[in-house]
Amino acid sequence: MIVILDFGSQYSELIARRIRETQVYSEVLSYRTSVEQLKQLNPKGIILSGGPNSVYDPGAPHCDPGIWQLGIPILGVCYGMQLMVQQLGGEVKRAERGEYGKASLIIDDPTDLLTNVEDGSTMWMSHGDSCTSLPEGFEILAHTANTPCAAIANHEKHLYGVQFHPEVVHSVCGLALIRNFVYHICDCEPTWTTAAFVEQSVREIRAKVGDKRVLLALSGGVDSSTLAFLLHRAIEDQLTCMFIDQGFMRKYEPERLVKLFHEQFHIPVEYVNARDRFLQAIAGVTDPEEKRRRIGHEFIRVFEEESRKLGPFDYLAQGTLYPDVIESADTNVDPKTGERVAVKIKSHHNVGGLPKDLRFKLIEPLRKLFKDEVRKVGRSIGLPEEIVNRHPFPGPGLAIRILGEVTDERLDILRDADLIVRQEINRHEMYGELWQAFAVLLPIRSVGVMGDQRTYAYPIVLRFVKSEDGMTADWARVPYDLLELISNRIVNEVSGVNRVVYDITSKPPGTIEWE
Ligand code: XMP
Repeated sequence: MIVILDFGSQYSELIARRIRETQVYSEVLSYRTSVEQLKQLNPKGIILSGGPNSVYDPGAPHCDPGIWQLGIPILGVCYGMQLMVQQLGGEVKRAERGEYGKASLIIDDPTDLLTNVEDGSTMWMSHGDSCTSLPEGFEILAHTANTPCAAIANHEKHLYGVQFHPEVVHSVCGLALIRNFVYHICDCEPTWTTAAFVEQSVREIRAKVGDKRVLLALSGGVDSSTLAFLLHRAIEDQLTCMFIDQGFMRKYEPERLVKLFHEQFHIPVEYVNARDRFLQAIAGVTDPEEKRRRIGHEFIRVFEEESRKLGPFDYLAQGTLYPDVIESADTNVDPKTGERVAVKIKSHHNVGGLPKDLRFKLIEPLRKLFKDEVRKVGRSIGLPEEIVNRHPFPGPGLAIRILGEVTDERLDILRDADLIVRQEINRHEMYGELWQAFAVLLPIRSVGVMGDQRTYAYPIVLRFVKSEDGMTADWARVPYDLLELISNRIVNEVSGVNRVVYDITSKPPGTIEWE
């Protein structure tokens, strides 16, 4: 394992992902992790991340100085390198000229850390400070036009530093450098594979659960479906999957999901039809937050009631992923004060928000994985592409895609319009290119004409976006012909709709969903 000590960089997670791409396991830990804790973890290498501070700022985050004596190879990145230099007796100062963006790396020593890194190759820089004198035993491996110490090493002690960010894609030979560190300097083996993960998880689940029973709230998304597969492989009928249909799913999805699990995967699912309850719970509610709150609350009540009926259960399985674990960890640092910042964990309405007094013990087999790793695991244990690559779908479902009051009539209209969107997006093979593509119903009416008849009906908004992670997004430039086709079909086939509009707002300032 490689440990990444996080000094508040936006790229710490990315470093972990890059290392995992070399099939070596890596974890992000707080910069406050003590040498004792590190010894227990016994990593084969340590990476010190970048960070927003200057090492000489009062209150800037420092690591336990004992790490320099551990004898474990260490690579400092940006702030991490500056910290290494400062703590070992060198000097870091505000640079005359900072370096932001691409820089050409001129290599002085093409061995060791920089093997296979091309001379003159582009690396991504983002720093206002520079190392002005190196600690004893260190030498320069590479420089750039503005930065004399762009890569440094103390070969004898296996301590390395780079001023640039090898983890970002703009650093052309960044991965080569990371591979050198991981394989040659830390001597790691590429054993973090999907197959090894599945095997180990199955063993761990069996050992933990024993002969007890586990409950899983299935949503049909890739996380809960992968979890269901993994748990079913490990403990078979000691697992109960419960699917609560709140009535806000897309057309045919609840039936399809239950059928897929029963017939194709041979994993039984307890289907709970709670449509009426949920609709009643939000009857007359127009405020988006209140809608979410009531749906969340109702979910918990239904979940409690049904789990009592089906139980007792000892464990509740949750699809917590590694980014949630990092987010909730004690690692973030305020750029101005150097103080740690409490990070709010996203709590969606589903299992994340269950009350503590349910007294389940938690089992979270995916907590070490990033989303793309979950997809790989899902695929490797037989999850079909339609689930593996499914677009994100919000917990409160169509209820937050109908603005204002949610009624049966509006749900039917939106479901039909949304189905047409999905059909055409699939038929035009655009599904994989888009982060999400869906319809929204606005609670207003406008005038139109059909045949000789004046109409007065709802508009449907088409929201098609491209995104990497849902945090930012851009509206998708899809062909006009496709928009025309979808618009024609919706207006002609869905009664109650006489107008279709396309949302051309990016996020920010818009959000992806409309509520
Ligand atoms: P926004 O609308 O905030 O959405 O730009 C970002 C991403 O999150 C999804 N989303 C949710 N997912 N429960 C979820 O599980 C929710 O309450 C929820 N709200 C938004 C949204 O679909 C998009 O992918």
